[in-house]
Amino acid sequence: METVVSGIRSTGRLHLGNYFGALKNFITMQQENRCYFFIADYHALTTHPDPKALSASVRSVLAEYLACGIDPNTATIYRQSDLVETFELYLALNMQAYLGELMKTTSFKDKARKQPENVNAGLLTYPVLMAADILIHKAHKVPVGKDQEQHLEMTRTFARRFNHFHGMDVFPEPVAYNFGKQLVKVPGLDGSGKMGKSEGENNAIYLADAPEVTRKKIMRALTDQGPTEPNSKPPVFIQNLFTLLGLVSTPDVVKHYKKTYADCSIRYGDLKKQLAEDTLAFIAPIRERIVDIENDTALINRVLKDGAEKARESSSKTLQEVRDLWGFKPF
Ligand code: TYM
Repeated sequence: METVVSGIRSTGRLHLGNYFGALKNFITMQQENRCYFFIADYHALTTHPDPKALSASVRSVLAEYLACGIDPNTATIYRQSDLVETFELYLALNMQAYLGELMKTTSFKDKARKQPENVNAGLLTYPVLMAADILIHKAHKVPVGKDQEQHLEMTRTFARRFNHFHGMDVFPEPVAYNFGKQLVKVPGLDGSGKMGKSEGENNAIYLADAPEVTRKKIMRALTDQGPTEPNSKPPVFIQNLFTLLGLVSTPDVVKHYKKTYADCSIRYGDLKKQLAEDTLAFIAPIRERIVDIENDTALINRVLKDGAEKARESSSKTLQEVRDLWGFKPF
C-alpha cells in the first residue's frame, strides 16, 4: 500500500480548482492508499491573516473535506499546526535547502511581487515546509494541481539530498498522484489565469457559495461578440468556459457547445446558463453537507483530535529516524 499526503491552505474556502486539482479522486484514493489529508494553517501565516479568520477557515476547510466524502475512519485528517514533528523536520530540511534555489521558485517570486511589504522568510522557505509535510509521512504520492508541480519537484530534490548525504534511502521521492497525465489547472472566471483565492472574489466558484451567487458569477464571466469565422480557435477566456463545462457537464453537452462555436451559432447566454446549472447540480450535495458538518463542533473537534493522534504515529517514527541520522541521540 502506498502513502498519499494532500494539503490545502486555510486561506478561505475550497473552490472548484481545489476540488478538481487535489480532491477529485479521493474516494478511490483513500480506499487504495494510506492517506493523510491536512489543513495547512501554518502555511497560511505567510500573509499574516487575522487569527479569527484563520481559525474560521480551518473549521470550514475541515467541514469541506468531510463534505466532499473524505472519511476520517479510512483516511487521517489533521491540522498542520497540531503535528509539531513537521516543524522539526522543516528545520532540519532547511539546513540543506539553498538560498539560490529558494529565491528562484516561481511562487516566491510571485508573492514577493504581490506583497513587497511582507517578503518574509516563511515565504522563502514555503517549499521546505511543504516538503516536510510530505516527507514526514514518507509519502509516495501527492495529489496536486499544476501550480504545485515545482514545489513537488523541490520535495524530490530535498529528499534525494537527504538520502544521499546520509547514504540511506530514508525518503521515497514523491510523485504527483495523477502522474503520467497532465496535472490539472482549473481556469478562473475572469478570463486570465487559474481559479484561485487570491485572484479576486468573482474569479472562483466556492463549494459553499449560495446557488444565486454561483449563477451570478458564471453569468458575469468574460465573453466576446462570438466567432465570425467557422472553425476558428476560441480565445483563452472562451476556452476556459469550455474547460469548466468539461469538468461539470456530460461529454454530449460539451460537444454540443463546441459544435455551435465551430459553426458560429453559439449563444454564450445559453452556454453560461448550462454551465451554471451543471455546476450547481455538481456542488449541491456537497454544499448541503458542509452546512451540517460546520455546525457540529463536537464532530470537528473529535476528528481533529483523532487525526492528530493517528498522524503522530507516522510522524514520530520518521522524526526519530531523522534525529538518529543527525546524531541527536543519547551518549
Ligand atoms: P492551496 O490551498 O493553494 O491549494 C490546494 C490544492 O488545490 C490545488 N489547486 C488547483 N488545482 C487546479 N486548478 C486550480 N485552479 C487550483 N487551485 C488550487 C493546488 O494545486 C493544491 O493541490 N502548497 C499547497 C498546500 C500544501 C500542500 C502540502 C499540498 C502545503 N503542504 C503538502 C500537498 C502536500 C497549496 O498551495 O495549497
